[in-house]
Amino acid sequence: MAQEYPKEVKVKDGSTVVLRPFERKDKDALFAFFQTIPEADRLFLKDNVADPAVVERWAAELNYDRIYPLLAWKGNQVVADATLHKNLGGWMKHVGTIRIVVGPAFQRQGLGAILANELFLHALKSGLEKIVAEMMDKQQGAKKVFEKLGFRQEAVFHGHVRDQIGVRHDLLILTKDLEEFWANIQTHEYFAYPTREMEG
Ligand SMILES: CC(C)(COP(=O)(O)OP(=O)(O)OC[C@H]1O[C@@H](n2cnc3c(N)ncnc32)[C@H](O)[C@@H]1OP(=O)(O)O)[C@@H](O)C(=O)NCCC(=O)NCCS
Repeated sequence: MAQEYPKEVKVKDGSTVVLRPFERKDKDALFAFFQTIPEADRLFLKDNVADPAVVERWAAELNYDRIYPLLAWKGNQVVADATLHKNLGGWMKHVGTIRIVVGPAFQRQGLGAILANELFLHALKSGLEKIVAEMMDKQQGAKKVFEKLGFRQEAVFHGHVRDQIGVRHDLLILTKDLEEFWANIQTHEYFAYPTREMEG
């Protein structure tokens, strides 16, 4: 496990959660977490997380170099899941994609923002320069959250994705350049000063 984890962080109501990357042994806890997500939110997630085989596959194929999954824990319960999807080579080697799901009990507590910042830092350490967030047109709340995190809408793919019950939607592509995050990080109270690996 990366040496900065487990890490205890405080959310807005003063309570604490512990962050640490997903490990194979966590698959039941992660599946249980997705069952707490309201249908209205689950409908728009990329994968069918109501299917235990999906989480089983994530556990079986775990490879932090490709997908870095960071979980937030309250005791032995997962309360949020955030992943950074990396390209191992090719013309998008410098680009990563972020996905975040915060459980209903912890939404609007700043946890989504904390997880995003952790993943931005991980992205920098991995040599990434640009982060993408993808969402359906219906996820206007999520769009606002990512805009507050410094993302800007860069493209719309019309009728490009289907939700979990098969209805087609526009896909919004939001992006964030990490240069500004990198420039500010040295004065950021939240993080220790990182060592940035050079991209090869
Ligand atoms: C989107 C999501 C991850 C946000 O997580 P969160 O922990 O509730 O967000 P935070 O509390 O960190 O909020 C970050 C900022 O966005 C704002 N915000 C949060 N939810 C919002 C909403 N529904 N509408 C508008 N603004 C919102 C917060 O006020 C905060 O801004 P501030 O720090 O300036 O006050 C969470 O709502 C979620 O999991 N939704 C379901 C899954 C999903 O849509 N994921 C996104 C697709 S990748």
